[in-house]
Amino acid sequence: MCGIVGYTGCSPAKDILIEGLQRLEYRGYDSAGIALQKDGALTVVHRVGKVEGLAQAVQSLDNDGTCGIGHTRWATHGVPAERNAHPHTSCNGDIAIVHNGIIENFMELRDALEARGHVFSSDTDTEVIAHLIEEAYAGDLYQAVRDACEQIVGAYGLAVVCAQEPGRIVVTRKDSPIVLAHGNGGSYVASDIIAVLDASRDVVVLGDDQFALMDADGIEYRDREGAVIEPKITHVDWDVDVAEKGGYPDFMLKEIHEQPRVVRDTLAGRLTNGALKIDELGLSLEELNLIDRVYVIACGTSYHAGLIAKQLIEGWARIPTEVEVASEFRYRNPIITPSTLVVAVSQSGETADTLAAIRDARIKGAKVFGITNVVGSPVARESDGVIYTKANKEIAVASTKSFLGQVVSLTLLALVLAQSKGKLSVSQIRLLFRELADTAEQIECILSDTSSIEEAAQACKDAHDALFIGRGMGAAICYEGALKLKEISYLHAEAYAAGEMKHGPIALLTPGFPVIVVATQSPVYDKIVSNIQESRARGAMIIAVATEGDEEIAKLADYVMYVPKVRDCFSAITATVPLQLFSRAIAVARGCDVDQPRNLAKSVTVE
Ligand code: G6P
Repeated sequence: MCGIVGYTGCSPAKDILIEGLQRLEYRGYDSAGIALQKDGALTVVHRVGKVEGLAQAVQSLDNDGTCGIGHTRWATHGVPAERNAHPHTSCNGDIAIVHNGIIENFMELRDALEARGHVFSSDTDTEVIAHLIEEAYAGDLYQAVRDACEQIVGAYGLAVVCAQEPGRIVVTRKDSPIVLAHGNGGSYVASDIIAVLDASRDVVVLGDDQFALMDADGIEYRDREGAVIEPKITHVDWDVDVAEKGGYPDFMLKEIHEQPRVVRDTLAGRLTNGALKIDELGLSLEELNLIDRVYVIACGTSYHAGLIAKQLIEGWARIPTEVEVASEFRYRNPIITPSTLVVAVSQSGETADTLAAIRDARIKGAKVFGITNVVGSPVARESDGVIYTKANKEIAVASTKSFLGQVVSLTLLALVLAQSKGKLSVSQIRLLFRELADTAEQIECILSDTSSIEEAAQACKDAHDALFIGRGMGAAICYEGALKLKEISYLHAEAYAAGEMKHGPIALLTPGFPVIVVATQSPVYDKIVSNIQESRARGAMIIAVATEGDEEIAKLADYVMYVPKVRDCFSAITATVPLQLFSRAIAVARGCDVDQPRNLAKSVTVE
């Protein structure tokens, strides 16, 4: 949540900062700003709204300063307004900071600072840090930032510049991501790798309580005691062009079309000599065999991947599995023993609630596996083992390809658990793995003709509400389908296990009310057909996701979105795709910004 960037080098900083902010805009987009350092003074520019507005304002700015910091905001403390946009400055205007995170003790710090004569110009928690640094500053910015950090409680990724220290940026972090790179004539810092790749493919993920002292010639890393430390280099092998739309009208559509590749990459190299291997898990088959309870914890779309995992782990490995949103899990007292496995699923790898739940679970003695898309992210670092989803950078706020990567990774995990428990034979595993891999081609088939999906979307675009119903795997997919629709089109949508329809939701149905039904071939197909009949009898408009060749559905539904025939356990992978396209088509028809829906941010680093 919130993106920060910084650059110091031999080129004018302003364009580099704007480009970095544009790549980070998925992290928040209610206001943006930069601070440029030149000739012993700082120039700060803010704009409310997206980075584009700031870019226009900066264009006419006559400032070729080669050092600066920038920020794109997702409001926590203080409404989206120019006065609350970062960078924030000290009273004398000599210190400017950008911050990602939340300062929990800001009220008391602010009261104390005001009592000592500091004048605040924003409602944010962040501004206290600028004033604390100002108070501590005695000619050494690094020292002053360190002093300020001693006083603040909370999460922060910080980049700080000072008018009196030309070309110097001081950076630190606690529980908020910071990556740095040096190359291409300068030093770069950002909240995400994507904004430093112009410098180098070799990046440094800053650790908690570490500091980076950046100048044009390089970056020095120090620990909280001030000792110089050797940074750990992470090599990034994907390209910056993932941040381009590649001919698609929006990132969401581009990312939906990347899903066959995600399936292939996530599975590559996993099956050797008939045995499934996930080396990164860090547990032997014997240790896996001891697991007797699984919790999947996650938020948002990742939680929905967990709902699918539950069915697979229980179905194949016969291990009791619970799925829980991380914000609930962390505040109750779940039953955890040393043989409990907690699987933390997080695209960004930095969701605050998921991280807190991981820490809590480990303290209670559980083994924790992370499933994340971001190499070196906190979820990856704080888990005992990790599976990377190989989706590559996802830019659209609404998750699509990452979700698919999560489902495929969790499917692998379920198979590995079944293998270690001896619940599936070698030949069964080999067959299931092959069918799982085949879903890549089946998704390609869905993507090759989307006309029926667009037709169904046109029919629903003016609706106020929609219901998604399904059973078994279909129900799990419906939760994700409804979330996708409401988050990008602002059309109110609810998902229900279809059997629950008659316990309440059916009262909503009026003629023309859209009911989206996942009715792929499964052991409960006949039951779902009955639910379609009940909805039809109330005049609902039926939009069905069904298996190719199913003529019966065509007679019952107003619109059918067909998917290739797959085994029920893999239907989540294929049936999700038309629902993603359906939501996007409705959002486009309603004139919504599908990549950056209002009020949302891609990574939620606050509670
Ligand atoms: C935000 C995003 C969702 C995402 C959720 C969990 O709400 O908008 O797309 O599913 O966070 O994020 P995570 O990175 O932990 O998967």
